Amino acid sequence: ELGLYQEAHRPQFHFTPHEKWMNDPNGLVFHQGVYHLFYQYYPEDIVWGPMHWGHAISKDMVHWENKPIALFPDEHGYIFSGSAVVDTNNSSGFGTKDNPPLVAIFTYHDPVGEKAKKDDFQTQGIAYSLDNGDTWVKYEGNPVIKNEGIRDFRDPKVFWNNKTGNWTMLLVAGDHLQIWQSPDLKEWVKVSEFGKNQGAHGGVWECPDLFPLKVEGTDMEKWVLLISINPGAPNGGSGTQYFVGDFDGTTFKSDQKEHKWIDWGTDNYAGVTYNNVPNNERVFIGWMSNWAYAQETPTEKWRSAMTLPRKLSLQQINDKFELFNYPLDSVDEIRGPVASEDITIGPKLDKSLTFDHFNKSEVKFKTSSRAFSLDFQNSSGEHLNLILDSEAQQFILDRSNSGKTTFDEDFAKNVQIMPIPDLPNGEYEVRVLMDWSSVEIFINHGQYVMTAQIFPNEFYRNLMISNPSDMELKLDTFTISPIKSIW
Ligand code: FRU
Repeated sequence: ELGLYQEAHRPQFHFTPHEKWMNDPNGLVFHQGVYHLFYQYYPEDIVWGPMHWGHAISKDMVHWENKPIALFPDEHGYIFSGSAVVDTNNSSGFGTKDNPPLVAIFTYHDPVGEKAKKDDFQTQGIAYSLDNGDTWVKYEGNPVIKNEGIRDFRDPKVFWNNKTGNWTMLLVAGDHLQIWQSPDLKEWVKVSEFGKNQGAHGGVWECPDLFPLKVEGTDMEKWVLLISINPGAPNGGSGTQYFVGDFDGTTFKSDQKEHKWIDWGTDNYAGVTYNNVPNNERVFIGWMSNWAYAQETPTEKWRSAMTLPRKLSLQQINDKFELFNYPLDSVDEIRGPVASEDITIGPKLDKSLTFDHFNKSEVKFKTSSRAFSLDFQNSSGEHLNLILDSEAQQFILDRSNSGKTTFDEDFAKNVQIMPIPDLPNGEYEVRVLMDWSSVEIFINHGQYVMTAQIFPNEFYRNLMISNPSDMELKLDTFTISPIKSIW
């Protein structure tokens, strides 16, 4: 009998529920010393169903403790995605100033009820907890935002707005963002809209988030809007775009023309950031899957994992603002002993390295090269190929022969391509974090990022590094580190 968290493909250093179906992260908030992770959860099966909020807590966003289900469906519907706030001044009256309530704001999805004139009737509701998330009471006045007939009206992200001194809610309505305000989390008015004519619109808008970031090395502050869309991502299915702009407290504006993506891999969706992180860091967690095949991936006991927690930062490169995302420092703590060497590979030559094993490891190096290939291989002939192609200015992830791929025709249909127009001159870092069923690639400290699921039938134990160019390939301080299980 395999013990807990030992099943085939079970991630060893990413969050997964003990069992059953999970999708989006919800209610990311820090309160009384713990980071909460709630998530879209269906406790009866390993496919999507009537949604609950599952719950886990952490001190570092890396090690997690599973908690009982926080929110169950009720007469208003399933509990879809949303956020959570600490109501410090007890504006809602649900708690006291000495024990401020944790308030969850979520979408009610009513698939069958009286009000479901359409097949997709959604309203917004709230619930509160006075014991830091252990038990929850739904507000008797729910829903707090009714639906005037909009399809796809969901995923409230609420934060305290210093500019106006009230609560601000982001809500998506099909093809655009709405911004609402409230003094007490109960009475809401709509104040602005964004996006009908901006950004990517290949699919419905979902899971908005909006927050300020300092532009690194300056005093300039910009606001970043995250919008997940499904379908319409650059490598197919679901993906998360972002806009950099300004927020005056009421209205978000951006003059960005191009479409921007936080992650170019197929498997980082519905990601949002934490409220109330103590040092003001902006920390992002996404769902490591894609609606194109999420319900068919080859696991049986549970389905899907979250990305590593990633710190967001903003840089100005040439004339553009770029959002970086990179694992939190706390991820370094689960790394085993590190030994590093400088590697040089001659023109058109290869080098093979063995390690036991890569599916719980970090591979990291610095290079100024514009062309290399990393091929992770196992003894069944399966391999995952990562290629930097200087001529095309692309990074390519090819999982077509990486292991189990035929559970859905979309999974390995195409190689995944990430344009890399602005790699810095000189050395930059390449960092690959690989778990039993995922790979996360961070180039230049999170400027270029790809996240993808993989299901190798055996662990990869060989890494073939190839130099396609006519010049020497130099990989400096090349390290392979084992990663410790978090469970
Ligand atoms: C995103 C999403 C949300 C919705 C939830 C339902 O993956 O479709 O828009 O609230 O999943 O589970």
